[in-house]
Amino acid sequence: MSAAPLKSDLPVVQDTFGRPLRSLRLSVTDRCNLRCNYCMPEEEYTWLPRETLLTFEEMTTLTEFFTELGVDKVRLTGGEPLLRKDLPTLMRMLRRNPRITDLALTTNGVLLAEQAQAFYDAGLHRVTVSLDTLKPERFKALTRRDMFESVLKGIEAVGQAGFKGLKLDTVAIRGYNDDELTDLIEYGKRMEAEVRFIEYMDVGGATDWSMDKVFSRQAILALLEQRYGHIEPVIEDSSAPAQRFSLPDGTTFGIISSTTVPFCSTCDRSRLTADGMWFLCLYATQGVDLRQSLRAGVSRDEIKARILAGWQGRADRGAERRKELEPLGIRARLVEIERLREDPRLEMHTRGG
Ligand code: GTP
Ligand code: 5AD
Ligand code: SF4
Repeated sequence: MSAAPLKSDLPVVQDTFGRPLRSLRLSVTDRCNLRCNYCMPEEEYTWLPRETLLTFEEMTTLTEFFTELGVDKVRLTGGEPLLRKDLPTLMRMLRRNPRITDLALTTNGVLLAEQAQAFYDAGLHRVTVSLDTLKPERFKALTRRDMFESVLKGIEAVGQAGFKGLKLDTVAIRGYNDDELTDLIEYGKRMEAEVRFIEYMDVGGATDWSMDKVFSRQAILALLEQRYGHIEPVIEDSSAPAQRFSLPDGTTFGIISSTTVPFCSTCDRSRLTADGMWFLCLYATQGVDLRQSLRAGVSRDEIKARILAGWQGRADRGAERRKELEPLGIRARLVEIERLREDPRLEMHTRGG
C-alpha cells in the first residue's frame, strides 16, 4: 500500500549538538486505565480538556510536517493509547505516509488482546508492552488495578496476530521488583520478546521518586551475571535509548539507563502531546503549541518553519542535567504536585514517555 521510503530527498535537520530529528512520539490520549506508582501515584489528576485533543486528521497532518523534516520513526503512546477509540484508523492514515518506515506502539497491554489483530491488519509494525512484574498481587499493588491477567493475554496476542520483535519494558525499582529480573528474562524468552529494563526516572509525574529506589544499570548487570554468567554488550550503531546485551545462550535484553548513564548525546526524539503541544525533551518544561497554529490556519510552510527552528535551536540534555545534581546531593523529584496540577503537560503520562 505504501511506496518506497522517500528519505534521500530530505535535508538532515540537526539541533545545536548535531542530533538529527528522526523519531516522533505521538501521544493519542493522556488517560490511563492503570495507576503505576512510578508514573501516576496521585489520587486525582487534571485531564486535558476533550475539545483540545487533536483529531486523527490533525495528528496525521502534523506528523506529515515532521516527516517532511526528516522523521521516519513514529511511536504511538499515551497515557494508554488503546483508550483512544478507532486506533486502527489512525494507524492506516499514518501508514499512507511513505516516509514513516517504522510505526510502533507502547501500551500497558490491558486492552491489547482485543485489538492486536486489528493493529496488525492496519499496518502497525511493532509493539512494546510495559510489564514490571509477574506476580499478580504485586501488579495490583503497583498499578492499583486488578488487570494482570488481561496484560498477559495481551502479550500473548501480539505474536498470534503476526507481529515480530515484541519488546517488554520493565521499570526496575529497588525493593519492588529487583528480585524478578531473571524471571522476566525467562518469560521474555518464552514469549519471543526482548526484555528492556528501564531505570526509574525522576520525570514529571514520578512524585514518589527517590535515588535510593533506582536499581541502576550496574546493579542490573551484576544481578544478571550472578545467574547467567558473562554478559556481553551488543555492539551496534544506534540512537535507541536501550543499550543491548547478550547472555551466554544468545538471549538479548536491553537496559535504558537514563538515570545513571544518560544518553542525551544521541537523542533524536521529540514528543507531541494529545493536545498538540510539542516537547523536545522528556524533561522539558516548555513546549510549542502546534494545535493552536494548526487551528488558527497558519500555513503548512509556516508551521514547518516553526518546527525546523525549534529543532535547530534545541540544546536539551535533560537527563544529563539531572545527573549533574547527584554529586551535589540535591537530586529529588522533578516537579512538585501542585505544579503538575496546574500544567498536566509536565506529566510523563501526558507527554507519552
Ligand atoms: P525503540 O527503541 O524504537 O523500540 O523505542 P523506545 O525504546 O524509544 O520506546 P519505548 O516507548 O519502549 O521507550 C522506553 C522508555 O525509554 C520510555 O518509556 C522512557 O521511559 C524511556 N525513554 C524514551 N525516550 C526517552 C528519551 O528521550 N529520554 C529518556 N531519558 N528516556 C526515554
Ligand atoms: N521511570 C522510568 N520509566 C517510566 N515510564 C513512566 N514513568 C517512568 C519513570 N518514572 C515509562 C515506562 C513505562 C512506560 C509506560 O513509561 O517505560 O513502561
Ligand atoms: Fe533526549 Fe531529553 Fe531524554 Fe536526554 S533526557 S535523552 S535529551 S529526551
